[in-house]
Amino acid sequence: MTRVYTWSIFTRLFHILLVAAVGVVYLVSEEDSLLTYHVIFGYFIGLLLLYRVIWGFMDVRYSAFRDFNFTLKDLFIYMTHVFGNKKRYIGHNPASSWAIVAMIALGLLSVISGILVYGTQEGMGILAGLNHSLFKEMDVFEALHELLVNAFIIVSLIHIIGVLIDKFVHKSQAFESMIYGYKEGSDESLKLTSGQKLFGILWIGSSVILLFYLLNTPSNILIADANRAVSYKIEHPLFYEECKSCHTLYPPFLLPVKSWVKMMDQLEDHFGDDASLEAQDVRSLKSYLTQNSAENSTKESAYHILKSMKEADTLAITKTPYWEKRHADIDKRTFESKKVGKISNCKACHTGIEKGLLNDKDIKIPTS
Ligand code: HEC
Ligand code: HEC
Repeated sequence: MTRVYTWSIFTRLFHILLVAAVGVVYLVSEEDSLLTYHVIFGYFIGLLLLYRVIWGFMDVRYSAFRDFNFTLKDLFIYMTHVFGNKKRYIGHNPASSWAIVAMIALGLLSVISGILVYGTQEGMGILAGLNHSLFKEMDVFEALHELLVNAFIIVSLIHIIGVLIDKFVHKSQAFESMIYGYKEGSDESLKLTSGQKLFGILWIGSSVILLFYLLNTPSNILIADANRAVSYKIEHPLFYEECKSCHTLYPPFLLPVKSWVKMMDQLEDHFGDDASLEAQDVRSLKSYLTQNSAENSTKESAYHILKSMKEADTLAITKTPYWEKRHADIDKRTFESKKVGKISNCKACHTGIEKGLLNDKDIKIPTS
């Protein structure tokens, strides 16, 4: 037996970059303010995988899809003899063959569905244009994204368990081979043509360049924010002056028509305060607020607040089920801290709220 060169430097670099990027994407996925990183590394994964698909059709020994073993009978034999299997595979065994195509497919679909969520829900990224037409499907896309990602994670875990069994039960060098490139055997070594080497350099090189480009140019089309800041001061000076004098200037899209009408009709008793105005000012405000209400917005917050309120005509945004749900995990002490003070001090955490910007990436809880 000799050493068989099995995995080229490109396949191995791809593998390690993919593992690292999936780790990053997963780690930042819980933190809204890190959404941009989630998306950037998601695009990076997408490009890495796209190249891997082409690589699979390039006749590279052991990495080419046609060198994979997709025979169901072999898979069955392999799986039923997992702990005793003596047959050695230099390239991919039947189980890893299936696992790898499944991971590539699920990975790519996760990225695509993620871009769809980013576009429809946040109004960001290359599909930001879909926010206006497809915002009502944002929850469907999000559920789809989660489903695909979970499927990807399950297959990845099976793959990792398989590698561990290979290493500790079969004493194979599957694990080491992905780092050093070699396995023991009598098969022929891999040899890359210069065209394949060039492609490999392009693969890793352009993916890494894309990553650095995205990390350093926040305004680029792949992560660009299509939500425009609103200047309420110019759009409606009275709304700006009057409604900002006691608290945060709440963007009109955070409540439906019925709530605004009811609120404007009883300004003399506005949450215990007298905020009454001249009749014509009330009319003007009412018309402005209803024209820009939640019903007329495609924003995530507007859509969800509206959906969560159902028939209710709640006046406080903070009493809507969606608001309560999204803030349920925040410690009470955070709201009472010096920098926040009370829950209605939205701008302490949503820095862009008075310009109508409420995106997840703009959420920052102040540290006291
Ligand atoms: C005289 C002071 C005052 C003025 C002026 C005023 N408000 Fe208020 N508003 C309050 C108080 C007090 C509350 C109760 C919540 C709080 O303590 O911030 C409140 C609450 C609200 C809430 C609910 C916030 C939540 O907790 O979800 C909305 C929405 C609101 N105001 C809209 C307006 C609008 C629109 C205007 C302009 C027409 C306006 N307010 C003008 C004092 C005022
Ligand atoms: C102490 C900080 C804090 C305060 C104060 C605060 N929020 Fe938030 N808000 C957050 C955090 C954190 C999230 C994201 C929670 C999550 O991960 O689901 C959030 C989420 C939201 C969302 C969902 C985002 C979306 O795009 O749908 C809306 C809407 C929102 N806040 C509105 C408000 C409004 C309106 C106020 C004031 C009445 C307010 N928040 C006060 C921290 C705060």
